[in-house]
Amino acid sequence: MKTRETWGTRAGFIMAAAGSAIGLGNIWRFPGEAYEFGGGAFLVPYLIAILTAGIPLLLLEYTIGRRYRSGPPSAFRMLSPRAEGIGWWQNAIAFFLATFYAVIIAWAVCYVFFAVTRSWGEDSAMFFGVDFLAASEDPLTFGEYRPTIMAALIGVWVLVLVIMLGGVRKGVELANRICIPLLVVLFGVIVIRAVTLDGALDGLNAFFTPQWDTITALETGPEIWLAAYGQVFFSLSIGMGTMIAYSSYLKKKAELSTTAVTVAFANSSFELMAGIGVFSILGFMSAQSGTAIGELVGVGGGVAFVTFPAILNEMPGGNFVGVLFFASLVVAGVSSIISMVIVPFSSVEDRFGWSRKKTVAVIGIPMALFSILIYPTTNGSSMVDAVDFAVSGYGLVLGGLATIVLAFATGKIRVLAAEANRTSVLKLGWVWYVCLALTTIMLTLVLILNVKGQIEDLSDPEIANELIYINWGVGGAMILFGLVMTAVMYRRPLPVANSEDGESVDSGSATA
Ligand code: PFF
Repeated sequence: MKTRETWGTRAGFIMAAAGSAIGLGNIWRFPGEAYEFGGGAFLVPYLIAILTAGIPLLLLEYTIGRRYRSGPPSAFRMLSPRAEGIGWWQNAIAFFLATFYAVIIAWAVCYVFFAVTRSWGEDSAMFFGVDFLAASEDPLTFGEYRPTIMAALIGVWVLVLVIMLGGVRKGVELANRICIPLLVVLFGVIVIRAVTLDGALDGLNAFFTPQWDTITALETGPEIWLAAYGQVFFSLSIGMGTMIAYSSYLKKKAELSTTAVTVAFANSSFELMAGIGVFSILGFMSAQSGTAIGELVGVGGGVAFVTFPAILNEMPGGNFVGVLFFASLVVAGVSSIISMVIVPFSSVEDRFGWSRKKTVAVIGIPMALFSILIYPTTNGSSMVDAVDFAVSGYGLVLGGLATIVLAFATGKIRVLAAEANRTSVLKLGWVWYVCLALTTIMLTLVLILNVKGQIEDLSDPEIANELIYINWGVGGAMILFGLVMTAVMYRRPLPVANSEDGESVDSGSATA
């Protein structure tokens, strides 16, 4: 019987988990989200979400992965035979996420080159929207291909698949051992440069000044809380089975609790650092141009690909900072996307006993082709927005919710706590149960209020509904896939290697 590959060292796993967490979400997403949703006040739901949902769920996923040593579908099946579909559904989420995430990395690759000569010129918004993306506003009409983006995207996928071919130690672990230190250096230089610019303090004030009323008001509150939970789930890479897959390669005696805290801390530090860097630079821009910071900030792509280049034009040494900034986006993105791709990879390898080469050929290449055929088009960026909303706004949060509910409903939560406590420094007990239970209530409430809001939007003629259709279409496709796979796989037993390892564990035999 083939033995399962494991991480080479504890540091290797921590770097891979941190590499997964620290990604475009920290640099491209967080600063804009925080600013849009109440500035400093956003940090309150964000911190609450990290402490009561993020870290507890991270621990739950680590424990499930280490105990059952399988990708999500097999792991969920060992939790309960009827739950395998949750794992397949998470595969669908991973598929959609990885395929659009790759295109943002590809944009960043292009911008590394543009930064050398600042080829975006005077009007960076025009360059990004018209010259680079040639963006059409209509996400539902298939646009024309953009060759530069497509070439970069092909490069990204080749790199990802080569890393995946290397396996756990020589592929994923090695890539993260290179990416993480590189990222710390690249980003460290940028942040130091940023906070020493004129006007940096005004930017930081704009970022940290809380608008308390926004998080408590009934009209804006639910959206902000969902955004905070969504950001934390996205940022910590939870809810999609990524951490189940990664920790399935842990040794049985691996420590879990301090690892989770270290990863969460590293991720948030990076996130705050990104916020500080980005807003210091926005403060500088505002001081130079006399434009209020609020008018400079676009959300997501806007900050990174429009506002930033505009600022780099004004900044002494802007080319250099630009290359560093976009290179750090690429490095952070690559170490994250491999953790998405590992979800379907580990799933089919553990469920069907496939070799890595076969998985690359049958899953990896078609996934890359889907991404390459759909996104580098003129409607690609609006597709990215719509799918991002479906995946991060709902998919991950629902995935996390399902994992918690299943752990409680099957009564395995105690078994899992005991499993984690067997090797962990911080012991899991009632605080963990309470946090997970509270998260369930909170998420259910927030989700209901959001769906209600979307239904109201549908009947408002003023609001363009295409994005909601894509949102629900993608959401429905993911759930359908989970259901179909549940039906197909229900009678098919787990491969012997897995069932011995996992199912015997739950029937009480030795675990070490
Ligand atoms: N955490 C990554 C980021 O911040 O960009 C994105 C991500 C990776 C989300 C893996 C979800 C996931 F399962």
